[in-house]
Amino acid sequence: MDAYHLVLYLHLLSVFVLVGGITLVGVCYARLRAAASLIEATPWATLADQTGWVFPPAILGLFATGAYLTNDRWTWGTSWIAVSIAGLALVTLQGPLAAGPRAKALKHSLDENEAARWTYALVGWPVTGRFGSSSSRIPGSCSASPGT
Ligand code: HEM
Repeated sequence: MDAYHLVLYLHLLSVFVLVGGITLVGVCYARLRAAASLIEATPWATLADQTGWVFPPAILGLFATGAYLTNDRWTWGTSWIAVSIAGLALVTLQGPLAAGPRAKALKHSLDENEAARWTYALVGWPVTGRFGSSSSRIPGSCSASPGT
């Protein structure tokens, strides 16, 4: 295998990582939209947040390997290469311009809800004598009521 084909392999690997990341985040957002409660929504929001790191290396890898392939056997004036660059620029820009702010707003909203749940659970205890209600119980917390 010569250097061109090795770099072409890395180029395709970057494409798979990028497409995989986009698919995973898409599935997370679809499940988030369908979620009926905070408990259902949180794991999908967390997974979408954790998937974000794959995009910068995949985009950089795609561009760096694409630039090598172009310099080696193609020309920058080739029309489909211009389309590839435009497509990659679109994917790159929509991260900080669209997906990033939306993900931040979502995380803020979930954090606020989580804080409200904790406040209710903790403040509600001396009032009701229970550690929160069954519907506001924090996942993984002790389900037994203090004093019962
Ligand atoms: C969303 C972005 C991109 C996607 C999905 C993509 C996809 C692909 C795929 C599937 C191939 C394999 C084609 C084949 O061997 O038949 C390929 C090859 C190639 N790509 Fe990209 N690419 C992207 C971005 C870029 C960029 C930004 C450049 C240039 C800077 C580029 C330059 C090339 C070159 C020169 C080849 C080699 C073609 C060959 O020798 O057959 N690509 N790309």
